[in-house]
Amino acid sequence: MQKRLATDIFSEWAVIGKDEGMEKGHLNSVNEMLSIVDSSLKSGFSAIDVGCGNGWVCRKLSNDERCRKVVGIDGSKEMIEKAKSIDSNMEYYHALLPEWKPDEKFDFVHSMEFLYYLEKPLEMLKEFYNFWIRPEGILIAGIDFYLENEDSHSWPERLNVHMTKLSIDDWKKGMLDAGFKDVEIHQVATKEDFIGTLVIFGKK
Ligand SMILES: C[S@@+](CC[C@H](N)C(=O)[O-])C[C@H]1O[C@@H](n2cnc3c(N)ncnc32)[C@H](O)[C@@H]1O
Repeated sequence: MQKRLATDIFSEWAVIGKDEGMEKGHLNSVNEMLSIVDSSLKSGFSAIDVGCGNGWVCRKLSNDERCRKVVGIDGSKEMIEKAKSIDSNMEYYHALLPEWKPDEKFDFVHSMEFLYYLEKPLEMLKEFYNFWIRPEGILIAGIDFYLENEDSHSWPERLNVHMTKLSIDDWKKGMLDAGFKDVEIHQVATKEDFIGTLVIFGKK
């Protein structure tokens, strides 16, 4: 059976309200990710959330008084429509990655549970470095589908969608190869039955 596009699946999720469960499921990991970057965010920072879903992380960032501008981008039309329906003043783009590039660079690129849907996620790290992030800017990304998280290995078959499975070392090497410095690898929101969200962080 031909694989489905991730964006089609998430469009269906937006229509049936499953984006809200996803938001709850990702909240602890994103909170930990935001505390990792907190001391790197200066007053007046700009941010973009890549694979923003219904825009909940954009709304969260916009509540940070240091945040001057926040933008969300997602390849699912329904997710973007939902995000705009919740807050029509926020800036959202409906676009497919890796082809799309922003018109400007950002101080902070954030992404939760998006990268592994790409065929070549490590190439996307290079795109981020070269075209998305300002000098001295930062990237943080959360990843639940990875080699060391064996419980995640059944997901591509279950959803009939492409996911690129990489190890923690692959991701770390990918960050360094893309040019990032001060690279950090974390596993956050770990529980008895969860090895944790893999978090990759780096500065330009
Ligand atoms: C697992 S969801 C995570 C959404 C959000 N970050 C959150 O934590 O709730 C992955 C998101 O990535 C988007 N996505 C997947 N592949 C994409 C692509 N090639 N281009 C743009 N967006 C994509 C999907 O539409 C979906 O909204």
